[in-house]
Formats: sequence, C-alpha cells, structure tokens
Amino acid sequence: MSGDLQEQAKRHLWMHFTRMGSFADHEVPVIVRGEGCYVFDEHGKRHLDGLSALYCVNIGHGRPELGEAAAAQSKELAFYTNWSYAHPRAIELATRVAELAPGNLNRVFFTSGGSEAVESAWKLAKAYHAAMGEPRRHKLIARNLAYHGTSMGALSATGLTALRVPFEPLTPGGVHVPNTNSYRWGEDRDPLWAADAIEEAIEFQGPETVAAVILEPVQNGGGCFVPQDGYFQRVREICDRHGVLLISDEVICSWGRLGYWFGCERFDYQPDMITTAKGISSAYVPLGALIAGDHIAEPFLHGKAAFNHGFTFGGHPVACAVGLANIEIMEDEDLCGNVLANEGAFREMLDGLRDLPIVGDVRGAGYFQAIELVKDKDTKETFDHEESEHLLRGFLSGELYQRGLICRTDDRGDPIVQLSPPLIAGPQQFEEIEAILRPVLSEASERMEQWSSLSRA
Ligand SMILES: Cc1ncc(COP(=O)(O)O)c(C=O)c1O
Repeated sequence: MSGDLQEQAKRHLWMHFTRMGSFADHEVPVIVRGEGCYVFDEHGKRHLDGLSALYCVNIGHGRPELGEAAAAQSKELAFYTNWSYAHPRAIELATRVAELAPGNLNRVFFTSGGSEAVESAWKLAKAYHAAMGEPRRHKLIARNLAYHGTSMGALSATGLTALRVPFEPLTPGGVHVPNTNSYRWGEDRDPLWAADAIEEAIEFQGPETVAAVILEPVQNGGGCFVPQDGYFQRVREICDRHGVLLISDEVICSWGRLGYWFGCERFDYQPDMITTAKGISSAYVPLGALIAGDHIAEPFLHGKAAFNHGFTFGGHPVACAVGLANIEIMEDEDLCGNVLANEGAFREMLDGLRDLPIVGDVRGAGYFQAIELVKDKDTKETFDHEESEHLLRGFLSGELYQRGLICRTDDRGDPIVQLSPPLIAGPQQFEEIEAILRPVLSEASERMEQWSSLSRA
C-alpha cells in the first residue's frame, strides 16, 4: 500500500453515519493508536477518549492481554460456527455471562453486534409466543428517540424519525411510546406517566398482538435519559399483567458502564431478555449477545423444537476468547467498583458547568452522562435546527476535537454533549475534560448569542 491515508480515506472509505462531503475542506480524523483513556491521531496528537470509542472500550485502549488471547485462540482454533456445533470458548463465555447476569438469565445466544442482538431478541420474542400458543403476538414497543440499531427489524424499534423514514417500509410491528425525559415535562406530571403510557399502548394495540417492550436502562438517544424512581418496577408489572416480555437493551448500559455488570441491576428490575454488545469484549473484536431467561429458552429445548435463526459469526471463537479475557480484567481491576467510587466526582464536575448560560441540564448514571445545551436556561428554550447545526457542526464538534477531547455532540433530540469515558478513568481525566469543556462551552454560548443577534439584525 502506498499513498496518503487522507487521500485514500476520502477516495475509498465509506464512513458510517457520516456526511462525507464535509471532508472536502476538512481532514478525516484518523486515529492510529490507543493507550488507556487516550488515543492518538495520525499526526501524533493525543486525545482524551471521552466516548470510549462509541461506548465500547470499557477497559481502555491498548491492553495486550486481549490481543494475546486473540492470538492464542487463532492458533488453537481460528473458527468454528455455533450452528449445530459448539467450541470451548463459546461454552465458557456463555457460562461466565450466565453467572454474571441477574436472575434466571442463563441462556446466551451470541451475535456479532448490537443490531443483531436486538434483531434476535425480537425474533425470539415472536418465536417464544408462537411456541406458547400465541402466534399473533408480534409487535415490539420501544421509546421515542431511542436507538436500537439499523438493520430493518432493529430500525423498526429505533425511535428516530430521520433514521427511519428514508428506509420505510420497515419491519411491521414497531410501536413507540414516550421516553423518560422529565427535563421537558411539566412539574405537575405524574412521575410514572411514561411507564403508564406503555400500558395504554399495549391496550390500544391489543395485548394479544404485543410480543415485547424494549427499553434501555438509561436511554442513549436524546442524551442519557434516566428512569424515574419506580419506572421499571411499574413497567415490569404492566408487562406481566399483559403477558408481554421485557427486553433490556444494554448494548451500552452493561459491562460496568453504569457501575454494574448489567444496567438492570442498577435500577433493580428483572428483564426476560438482555441484549448486549460493545463492552462485552471492550470492542477489541466485534461481539454481541442475547441473554434469555430460562423460561424463554424452555420451549426450544425439547423434541424437534428449534429457534430457526443464526449468524455465521455468532460466538466466533476469537471473539469469545477476547470476551473472556475482557471480563477477567474487569473483575481483577474491579472496574464496576471504580465507576461507583468515581461517578460522584465525574458528575460533580459536570454539574459544576451549570453556571454556563448554555448548560440547561446534566443527566445520566455511572460513566454515561449528557449535558443538554439550551438557548435560554430559564425558559429551557432549545436551539432550532439551523442554530443547532451552527452550534454543533459549525463549532463544538471540531473545537472539542482540536483541543483534544473526543465526546459526542448530537442533535437527534435536543442538542447535547455526551460523555462516556473508559471505566478506568478517574479524577485526572475529569479535570482534563473540564479544562476543555468549560472554555469551549463558554465560547459556544457567546458565539450563539452573537449569531442570534446577527440573524435578528
Ligand atoms: C442501545 C443500543 N442498541 C443497539 C445498538 C446497535 O448496535 P450495533 O451498532 O453494534 O449494531 C446500539 C448501538 O449503539 C445501541 O446503543
């Protein structure tokens, strides 16, 4: 290979969810190396990875143990499939995951990522109900603004209009209900209003047609929406009352992100299935899983019954070996404990930014936090589409990156800055984050005020 990486990236690489036209007069950010909480770009500049490479690299970058586990496994058995065969690493990892997962979540179906896990969970919910004599139960209820993936089934669960509409018609049966963004609720609203909206939707759809409800413990889309106290307990009751399964989509919220192995433990509810990916291998290799309760697996364990679904690479031996090494590190270094011990300081630092006029809300749990940016703090007025474009793409994203902080700026809901650092992060990284965020958000406030007065003039 010869030539310039920039040129080749611009000519040949199709980047995901990316306006590639924006690179006509900008460099593609090329990340070449990682070490702990930091990554380095092709110019050797160091960036604090405040996003864990898309909520993924939970144990931090550059751990030799994971590469060594992958190399050893490639030598021993590079690949065998889980279609009708098993191999030691898939068996061992399934056992480990079942030991860590709460309650009776003892059966693990591996995938290569999150969308495949969500796709599998929805199909399993349908197959389970059919096996139990209720074949009309096929609908999946999810929340507005929630992101559950991009394959056609998972996209049907995703509640983001701009991602859905261009690809319609989607898999039939995706139904959406309000999320738990109480920052935008009137003060007199019943705190369990959003939970009760799920029951209304089930009754409206006809309970005999509803297979499952899929919810993240803390919702990513819209910016780290946390549940109200008692929300998940109420949802569990509603699901039980109507024979509907509860799927906890923990593609982000498991493997320590919220300070627990699984996010549902933090909020004390028991789902029928968990979908996971990302942090299960700290993304050193692609790996995901659907974890099902014993009662869900039961109808498929006898006679000629089978869940007729699978992916060639589900439970890839190299991925499973890396997953096992990842869990071992998380345990040895008590990374869940590190998150619980430091989340208060992390949050305190972010709450400290509330004095800036542009910071409307700070919310989240564990190492998964968002700052909502507003035009007017008192009225909570948000930026319109054009202003948000100017604020996020015209200034914030580029400026934060230039100053050495990778985090997410997003306006799929109201504009937010989101942080999700590796679970090894601590006070030193929080200080560095603040040292960049404070001046940049402060400048963003001033720029937006000037921009608004210019557009008014
Ligand atoms: C909650 C949730 N579900 C599903 C997905 C889809 O996962 P993937 O991109 O691995 O297909 C994501 C991705 O970010 C996610 O956050």
